[in-house]
Parts: sequence; structure tokens; C-alpha cells
Amino acid sequence: KQFLICPTCPNPIYHDINVVFSRFCSPCDIKELFCTAAGLPRNTTISLVDSTGAMVSIDPTMPNKEELFQNVLTQVAEQFSRAFKINELKTEVTNRLAMLEKRVELEGLKVVEIEKCRSDIKKLREEMASRNNSFLDDNKKLTPRRDVPSYPKYHLSKETIDALRQPVFDVWQWEPNEMLSCLEHMYHDLGLVRDFNINPITLKRWLLCIHDNYRNNPFHNFRHCFCVTQMMYSMIYLCNLQEKFSQVDILILMTAAVCHDLDHPGYNNTYQINARTELAVRYNDISPLENHHCAVAFQIFSQADCNIFSNFDAEAFKQIRQGTITLILATDMARHGEILDSFKQKVDNFDFTNEEHVTCLKMVLIKCCDISNEVRPMEVAEPWVDCLLEEYFMQSDREKAEGLPVAPFMDREKVTKPTAQIGFIKFVLIPMFETVMKLFPQIEDVMVQPLRESRDRYEELKQIDDAMNEVRIWIEAGICTPLKNKTKEDSIVVTDMI
Ligand SMILES: *[C@@H]1O[C@H](CO)[C@@H](O)[C@H](O)[C@H]1NC(C)=O
Ligand SMILES: *[C@@H]1O[C@H](CO)[C@@H](O)[C@H](O)[C@H]1NC(C)=O
Ligand SMILES: *[C@@H]1O[C@H](CO)[C@@H](O)[C@H](O)[C@H]1NC(C)=O
Ligand SMILES: [Zn+2]
Repeated sequence: KQFLICPTCPNPIYHDINVVFSRFCSPCDIKELFCTAAGLPRNTTISLVDSTGAMVSIDPTMPNKEELFQNVLTQVAEQFSRAFKINELKTEVTNRLAMLEKRVELEGLKVVEIEKCRSDIKKLREEMASRNNSFLDDNKKLTPRRDVPSYPKYHLSKETIDALRQPVFDVWQWEPNEMLSCLEHMYHDLGLVRDFNINPITLKRWLLCIHDNYRNNPFHNFRHCFCVTQMMYSMIYLCNLQEKFSQVDILILMTAAVCHDLDHPGYNNTYQINARTELAVRYNDISPLENHHCAVAFQIFSQADCNIFSNFDAEAFKQIRQGTITLILATDMARHGEILDSFKQKVDNFDFTNEEHVTCLKMVLIKCCDISNEVRPMEVAEPWVDCLLEEYFMQSDREKAEGLPVAPFMDREKVTKPTAQIGFIKFVLIPMFETVMKLFPQIEDVMVQPLRESRDRYEELKQIDDAMNEVRIWIEAGICTPLKNKTKEDSIVVTDMI
């Protein structure tokens, strides 16, 4: 391609702009800027020619020809950069405002969320003001925008890096920016950044944007996203998935895990449908939440500076998009039976060269990771049950207030931790993981055994709860004297007594 820039042309480009250069700008920087601005690969050869095709003349009396040439190039680059960045800014601001508006529209009532919107809008205003200064004010020096996201660069220790590959990883001891560094590490470590030529800065910006688009729900929050992705990463190693799957499949598995609950409002599909929310109306009651998570994911990819797939050709992008959508939609628990049955039919004659088989396996894998908390050690898993119950109670309280049907397992009057977990572990988790075990026997010790132990532990806890309830009846009937203070030790004494 040739770009013709000439101050005496009938239609000069940005004729009236003053550009101030830094003498310290290296030719490399200028070239890179020029290429970025023009949307060309970085290794493009750049030369300046006049309208006759001759190289731009350089005054031989000038002491430093090279510097002059460099300055001309810089000027051209800055002009392109200016045009490019204003458009980029416009798109970005429009997208973000649309997202905020949509959020206000979807949420309606909750005060916290409105507060969050306010602060988001305030941030946006401040950001625009600051960009205005650096890019739109002609009197100031134009500074190239090298906005590496502001989360500190954590140096992950060798110990952390090793632990990150195990399901026993303690997911509670990390701040959001540490989790971001871990996620970033996974994309590098799996060779995804290298194999797909992902811009490492875009990867950072994308992850930051992912973080910003998870809400602070008790359960469906950024830490849950991290857990699901970390479990996926562990399973990739444990099951040697890189030997069985293409790197495209690995990229799809990881990316779907990262995006799978984006902008989750904290109320499940049944609530959305019964309350006839905007989401349910938009998606005709068909997996409204999962459709939304997926749409938000691809709204994020549509922003140039967060698009880790920007180097992909149209065909490759289409494949990644389709694969990611399929996996995110598979996380709707309403489809659990359907998906598991389909996998059971394939597992005994599983064929890694059959695309349908592979897709089905990927769907089961993301499902496993999504509900894998009980695979983790008890100290890590148990707090998640409290988080889930808190989110359930938030929903059931709202359902009661709005006169909608309430599920007993979400009702704070009826549910306990053991009752919430036993059925789920016995009838959902163990059967699914045992089916996957047929294909990957190595998950038995690391994943299935902890599930069995957790089931046994919750069954014991339930027996204690039941015994306590019986004792309460005798106490109320005056047959038995009350315990002073109900502590764990007391509970055990009671079971022994019974
Ligand atoms: C530029 O780099 C790409 C790969 O990054 C390569 O395919 C292409 O041939 C290179 N072009 C030149 C002119 O070196
Ligand atoms: C931003 O730029 C516009 C026009 O370029 C100007 O009118 C406005 O005052 C600027 N705002 C700030 C905060 O600098
Ligand atoms: C969603 O909430 C409803 C109660 O409104 C409950 O019946 C249903 O089982 C819940 N779904 C899931 C997947 O938890
Ligand atoms: Zn989830």
C-alpha cells in the first residue's frame, strides 16, 4: 500500500495541525505507531514518496538528514495516530455507555447496582477528561498511548505457579489483581499467547475488562470465574488434554471458562423467567443468563483494545466464537441431563477425531469445572456453600416479596448446608465425574475421591443436625434438659447419646 501525504495537494490531510515531536522518539517507535495507525503488520516496509513516486527529497544542506526524515515520518505517524485514536475512543465510549445504559435498564431496583453505575459513569467522565487532555488539546504535546493496565505486575513465585496446576489450589488467599496475574500466566503457560500471536498487553486489558464485568454477587463473582478457569487449567494438565485436543480447543475451553458467568445478576434463570425480566424477554426464556454471559463476552471482544483475537482471520474467529458460545450455553444446569446423556452414549467408544464427540466432551468439561467446588479440599470448598446459600436467600427473599414461586432448597427457613449439598454431590456431581473418569481414569484420586469424602462428611453433619432436631423436640416436651450452649462438641455428645 502507498500513502500519499503532501502539503501542497488540493486536499491536504490535517493541514492545520501542529505536532510537537520528542527528539527521543526512536525510528522503531515511529514505525510501530505508523503501522498500528494504518492497521498494517509491524514488519511493513515504510517509505515516503512524492506524487511522482520519487523518494521524498531531503535538503542536502541540513546537518542531519536522518533526523529530518525521521521527523517527517513522525509527523505522518502522529497524524494517522490522531485520526485512528479519535475513532477508537468514539467506539469505545459508545460501547461502554451502551453497556451502562443496558445495565440500568436491566437492573431497575437495586440500590447497590445503581451506585455502581454511578461510579462507572463517573470513572468514564474522568477518563474522557484525561484523554481529552492528552489527545484533543492541540497546545499540548501528543503522547503515544501506552496504557498498560494499572494492575501491578505480580511476580508469581515458583511455588504459586506449581500450585496453580492443582485442584487443591487455595482460591481464597488472592486479591483480584493476583488472580488476574494467575489467569494471564495460564494463557502464557499453555502456549496460547505464543501459538495464536496474542498481544500480551491486549491480554492484560481483556482480563481487566473481564474482571470489571463480573458483579459483586455472593457467589457468581470474579472469584468464581477464577475458580472455574483454574479447575479447567488443572484438568488440562491432569488429563493431558494438550495431547488430545488442538490448541484451538484449549483456547476455547479456557476462554469459555473465563467468560462463562459475565455480568451474572445473582438471580437464576427461573427467577428471570417468572419475573419476566428484560433478559427473559430478550432471549424468549431460553437460557436467558447464559445467552447474556455470552453476548457480554463478545461485546468485550468487539472493543479493539480488549480483543485478544484481533490477529485471527475471519475463519479462525468464527470457529473460536462458535466453540465459546456452545460451551457457555452448555453451563445452563437445565440442560444437565441432556448433555450428560449425550456424553454417556459416546464415552464407551470415544473418538478424539470425531468433532461431535470432542464438542460433547468439551461441554461436559466446562460443566464439571463450573460446579467443581466440592472437588476442592474441605477448607476451600465449604465457604462457597455459604456464598451460594447467601445468593439463594437473596433470590428467595425477592421471590417472596414479589409473590413468585420459591424453591424449598433456596428458602432460608428450610435449607441447611448438608441438605443443600448431599443430593447435589450424590446425584449430580459424582455421576458426572464418574462418567468422565471412564475416559480419564487419573481423575479418580484427585477429583472423584474428594467428592466421595465430601458426601460422607455432609451425611455425618446431617445426622448430627437431625439428632439435634430430635433432642429439641424432647426438650420442648420437657423430657430432656437443654444444653447450655450449642457448640460443635455438644453436638457430638448428643449423637453419641443417641
Ligand atoms: C510479516 O510478518 C508476517 C508474520 O508475522 C509474515 O507472514 C510476513 O511474510 C512478513 N512480511 C514481511 C514483508 O516480512
Ligand atoms: C475537551 O476538548 C474540547 C474541544 O476540543 C473542549 O471544548 C473541552 O473544554 C475540553 N475539555 C477538557 C476537560 O479539557
Ligand atoms: C432457580 O430458582 C428456582 C426458584 O425460583 C428453583 O426452583 C430452581 O431449581 C433454581 N435453578 C437452579 C439451577 O438452581
Ligand atoms: Zn458458573
